[in-house]
Amino acid sequence: MRIIIATIFPDFVKVVKEYGVISQAVKDGKLEIEILNLRDFTQDKHKTVDDYPYGGGPGMVMKPEPFYRLYDYVVEKYGKPFVVMTSPQGERFDNKIAMFLSKKENLLILCGRYEGVDERVMKIVDLELSIGDYVLSGGELAAMVICDAVSRFVPGVVEEESLRQDSFFNNLLDHPHYTRPAIFREMKVPEVLLSGNHEEIELYRLSESLKRTAIKRPDLFLKHEFTEKDKQALIL
Ligand code: ADE
Repeated sequence: MRIIIATIFPDFVKVVKEYGVISQAVKDGKLEIEILNLRDFTQDKHKTVDDYPYGGGPGMVMKPEPFYRLYDYVVEKYGKPFVVMTSPQGERFDNKIAMFLSKKENLLILCGRYEGVDERVMKIVDLELSIGDYVLSGGELAAMVICDAVSRFVPGVVEEESLRQDSFFNNLLDHPHYTRPAIFREMKVPEVLLSGNHEEIELYRLSESLKRTAIKRPDLFLKHEFTEKDKQALIL
C-alpha cells in the first residue's frame, strides 16, 4: 500500500516514516509513504496556500487550487486514491476504520490548517476523519496518527499474532505485560507467567483482558462477542 500525505509542513510530518516498525516496513518495501508539500502545487511566486474568508471573520482559509492540483498529480501518477481529510468535524477515527483504510492501494491524506479549508475541496474527499473531540492547530498530527495506525494493518508490517493481542482487537483491551526481574521493589510477577504452562497463561491473559475492559471501557465490553473460552476465563 501507498500512503500519501499532503501538508504545508513536510519536515514535521516526515518523522512518521523514520522510526520503529513503520520505518522498517518502508525499508523492506512493504509500505510506501510519500509526503507532498502543498506549496509545490501553487502557481504564484509567493506559493500562497491560504486567503481571507469570504463573508469576513477571523483567520485564513486554505485555497482550493493547490489541493486540486495535488490531487490531479496523484491521480496521474498512481491512479485514483482514496482521499481522507483530517478535521475536527470528521467521523471519529478508530481501529475499525484503520483496518478498512489499510486495504486501499493508494490512500491520500489531506492535512487541513488555519480556520478551515475551502468547502469545494470536499468534492474530492471520500472520508473526513477526526482523531478526537479537541482542536489541534492543524491536521498534521492527526494525519500522522492515522498513517501510523493504518500502517500496522498492512500485511507484514506487524506480526499477525501481535495485532491479535493489541488493544481493541475483538473489542478487548490488551492484557498486562511483565519482564525481568521477577520481583521488583517487592512487586511480584504473577506466578502463572513463570509456570511455563502455555494454556494456563493464555487463559490468565484472556481473563485479565476481559476484566480490564469491563472496568476501564464498559462500552467496549458490552460490544464484545463472548466465546466459550471467554466464559472459561471469566470464572478464573
Ligand atoms: N484538525 C484539528 N483538530 C483535529 C482533530 N481533532 N482531528 C483531526 N483533524 C484535526
